[in-house]
Amino acid sequence: MIITIDGPAGSGKSTTARRAADALGYVYLDTGAMYRAVALGFLRADASATPESAEAVPADLHLDVRYENDEMHVLLGEDDVSDRIRTEEVGEMASQVSSFRAVREQLVEAQQRIGREQEDLHGGVLLDGRDTGTVVFPDADLKVFMVADVEERARRRKREYAQEGKDVPLDEIQASIEARDRRDRNRDIAPLRRADDAVILDTTDRSVDEQVAFVVDRVKERRESGTWGEGL
Ligand code: DC
Repeated sequence: MIITIDGPAGSGKSTTARRAADALGYVYLDTGAMYRAVALGFLRADASATPESAEAVPADLHLDVRYENDEMHVLLGEDDVSDRIRTEEVGEMASQVSSFRAVREQLVEAQQRIGREQEDLHGGVLLDGRDTGTVVFPDADLKVFMVADVEERARRRKREYAQEGKDVPLDEIQASIEARDRRDRNRDIAPLRRADDAVILDTTDRSVDEQVAFVVDRVKERRESGTWGEGL
C-alpha cells in the first residue's frame, strides 16, 4: 500500500507520517530529506545553485537511501548525513535546488523505486513531501494533504527552535515560512498542490495523536473496503 502525505512546511507531515508508519508496521520515506541531502552536497561543493550547475551536480553526489531497523538514512557516498541536513541553511538551499528539473527528475525516479521496494518488503510505505501524491505516486492507495494556519506553523517552529536552545523571533519565522510556501507553490515544476483525490487534514487545532489516528483510520478503511492491492 502506498500512502502519500503532502503539504506545506510546518503542517506536521513528517511527525505524522513517521508515527503512522510505526503504528501500521509500514516504513516512512521522507522525500524532503533527499532534497536536503542534494542541497547539502551543493553547499559542500560550494557550488552556487543555478539550474545550469544542477544539470551536473546530482550525479556526482552519490545520494543513497538506506534503511537500518526500518529507519530511513540518507547518505552522500558513505557519509550518513541524516542529522546534518536538519539546518535552516540546508532547508533554504533545498527549497532552491528543488525547483531544478534535473534534480527533481532524478529524485522522483529514486523515490518511485525505493517506494516500490519498501512496499514489497513491508506491505506499505508512507511518503511525505510536496508532490508525492501528484507526481511521484499519482496512483497512490491513499493521499492526504495536510494544512495548518501559518501562525500556528510559525508557533510550532518556534517551539522546535526553543528545544534546540535558540530564540528566534516569531515574525521572522513566519516570514520565512511564507516565503518558502510561495516558492513551493509557484515553481514551474511539480508545485505544491493538493491532488484532486487527496483528503484534507487540517492540523491547526489537532494534536499529533489525533493526526496520526486520522491517517491510520483512513488506511484501515481502505484496507477493509478492499480497494487496494488488487492483483496481489
Ligand atoms: O519538507 P522539507 O522541509 O524537509 O523539504 C525541504 C525542501 O524540499 C522544501 O523547500 C521543499 C522541497 N521538497 C520538494 O520540493 N518536494 C518534495 N517532495 C519534498 C520536499
